[in-house]
Amino acid sequence: MEAEEIQDQKNYIKKVYELNKNKSLKYYILTMGCKLNENDSEKLVGMLGEMGYEESKEMNDADLFLINTCCIRENAEERVFGKLGEFKKIKEHKDIIIALGGCMMQEEHITNKIKKSYSFVDIIFGTHTLHKLPEDLYKCVINKKKIKDVLDIDGKVYEGLPIKRGDKKQASVTIMYGCNNFCSYCIVPYVRGRERSRKPEDILKEIEDLAKEGYKEITLLGQNVNSYNGRDGYKFANLLRDVDKIDGIEIIRFVSPHPKDFTDDVIDAIRDSKKISRLIHVPLQSGSTNVLKAMNRKYTKEQYLDLIDRIKQKVPDAVFSTDIIVGFPKETEEDFEDTLDVVRKVNFEQIFMFIYSRRIGTLADKMENQIPEEIKHKRFERLKKLFEDNIEENNKKYVGTTQKILVEGYSKNNPEMLTRKNRY
Ligand code: SAH
Ligand code: SF4
Ligand code: F3S
Repeated sequence: MEAEEIQDQKNYIKKVYELNKNKSLKYYILTMGCKLNENDSEKLVGMLGEMGYEESKEMNDADLFLINTCCIRENAEERVFGKLGEFKKIKEHKDIIIALGGCMMQEEHITNKIKKSYSFVDIIFGTHTLHKLPEDLYKCVINKKKIKDVLDIDGKVYEGLPIKRGDKKQASVTIMYGCNNFCSYCIVPYVRGRERSRKPEDILKEIEDLAKEGYKEITLLGQNVNSYNGRDGYKFANLLRDVDKIDGIEIIRFVSPHPKDFTDDVIDAIRDSKKISRLIHVPLQSGSTNVLKAMNRKYTKEQYLDLIDRIKQKVPDAVFSTDIIVGFPKETEEDFEDTLDVVRKVNFEQIFMFIYSRRIGTLADKMENQIPEEIKHKRFERLKKLFEDNIEENNKKYVGTTQKILVEGYSKNNPEMLTRKNRY
């Protein structure tokens, strides 16, 4: 079934290619949000390339405008509407196609708003219909009609889409789609549907091919990678061990695991591997057990700290990065102090800090005692200061040590130095 659907789209790719032949058309793409969206965009770009479009970094050159949207926080949505204003001006004097895809398009209040106030948008597609861009584009061009192609039901797992990767040495590989956790602040389960895992053989084949092409670093992606379920009994730890065996791949990362599913077999797989990065991302969200409960995270402050200890016992050189939300509804000064306490105890290498943003349709949006903006911002600054004050001290442990990194290029500040962004 899925294979036939992909074949259909490959036929549409040929049709659009025929339409565009000798026109030297260009696309301008903007990708918002997480690595999963970036990986989706690599597939969109792969399809666009086969349809005869070339990439343009300049908006004024482009014939097709595409935004792969994110709705995790309000500011991501605002950026899209800002960009649409710019696209509109270009459309006033040039015949362009504007397409919007991704997470934000799964929200009805957003697509209604676009229909009403941004009616110059030509194509809207959601997270479950990304593979249908060729068909949507073909129908839009031929019929000169607006297309809305959004599915509410869960998408399937499609293999074999063309892909054009943004980098030659490091690649992201999505291992699972969707999320079942329904953390009370989070929109992702509503816009990405329930968890669907790719088959182990498809994932391993993709990584083997990447290794043959010369890729050195692989990041395994999913909203909750450690609930990966390849088939009965084949879990995330099995996948880690199998990826570890692939010759040519030197560094393996994964993002994001959920603390509640970080089982010992995963820790053992990290311990036994020389390739899995020792910078491990373990999203905390809050250090307060009360807030964690209201967030529906299913672990306590103590369980989180215990997990960090368990990892350190088996993997003594492990260091951690994390995500933290400040200003969740009902967060008291004491709750926030608990978060700071965990930050002090774990000594994170990197913290991705977010101010809580209300998302329509989530449970937390309906909670009483929303925190005033001013308090949220003050707490955010306090957290930032605590982290920044520790960076220098924290980095001292690396002086004089040898670390395996993938070099990204020469330093902008000093051409005699090589650099690597330290990211999870
Ligand atoms: N599935 C991953 C990450 C999902 S989104 C995980 O569970 O770790 C990335 C981060 O955005 C989250 O970890 C969380 O810290 C943040 N986030 C999600 N919803 C948010 C909201 N409504 N407001 C502020 N930050 C949010
Ligand atoms: Fe959102 Fe929670 Fe799922 Fe992460 S695990 S995507 S934070 S619902
Ligand atoms: Fe954003 Fe969707 Fe990722 S909401 S964070 S792009 S899964």
